[in-house]
Amino acid sequence: MSEGQSAFRDEEAVRIVTPEMVLNDPESRQLIEMADRYLNQIGYTNHGLSHVGNVARSARRILDELDYPERDGELAAIAGLLHDIGNVVHRNGHAHTSGVMTFDILRRLGMPLVEIATVAGAVGNHDETDGAPVSAPSAALIIADKCDVIRTRVRNRTMIHWDIHDRVNYAVTESQVVVEREARLITLELTVDTEISTVMEYFEIFLTRMKICRKASQFLNCDFKLVMNGTALS
Ligand SMILES: [Fe+2]
Ligand SMILES: [Fe+2]
Repeated sequence: MSEGQSAFRDEEAVRIVTPEMVLNDPESRQLIEMADRYLNQIGYTNHGLSHVGNVARSARRILDELDYPERDGELAAIAGLLHDIGNVVHRNGHAHTSGVMTFDILRRLGMPLVEIATVAGAVGNHDETDGAPVSAPSAALIIADKCDVIRTRVRNRTMIHWDIHDRVNYAVTESQVVVEREARLITLELTVDTEISTVMEYFEIFLTRMKICRKASQFLNCDFKLVMNGTALS
C-alpha cells in the first residue's frame, strides 16, 4: 500500500465524535449503568445516566457561557459522560481507570488522538483526591462534577440518618451553577434544608471539593463563590 493510500484511509477513519454519539453508544451506556450498579452495591449516591448527563450538560454550558470554542464544550460534555465508568473496576483510582478506558471507546468511534488525549486528561483529573485542571474541558468537568450535589442523587432516604454523604446530598433541595462571563465569576448556589444537615456538615464533606472548584475556576480565569441559602460563604 502506498503512503498516499494509507493517508486517505486514516482521514476516512477520523470522525467528529459528538456527545450524542457517545450517549447513544451501547457500550458506553452499558459501562455507565454497570459502574452505577456497583456503586449502589457499596452504598454510593447515584452515579448513573442522570448524574453523568447532568455533569455533561453543565460542563458544556460553563465553557459555552465563557465563550470557549464550541468543540471545547463538546469535549467537556464527552468527558462528563465517561468520567465515572472506571468504577466498574474499582472505586479507588476510578478517575485514572476511566481515563484509560476512554481511549478504547473514543478510538472505536473514530475520534482523533489529540481529542482523545484531551478527554482522557480531563477524565483522569476529575477527582479531588489527586486531580488538577489541565485544560479548559478538564476545569469545566471538575466544576460540573463537584457541583452536582442534590437530593435526587440519594438512593435510599433511610440512609440519611447514618451516612453523612447521603444526609448532605439529601439536604440540598436546589443546586445551580451560575456563570458570569463579564464578572469572571462562577457561583454554586445551593438551597439547603438545615434541619436535615448543618452547614458545618456540608463543609466537613465538601471542603476539598470546593477547593478544587476554586482551582478549576482560576484555570478559566474566574473566581469561585459558594452561596448557601442566599449567604455567600466563600
Ligand atoms: Fe468520579
Ligand atoms: Fe461524578
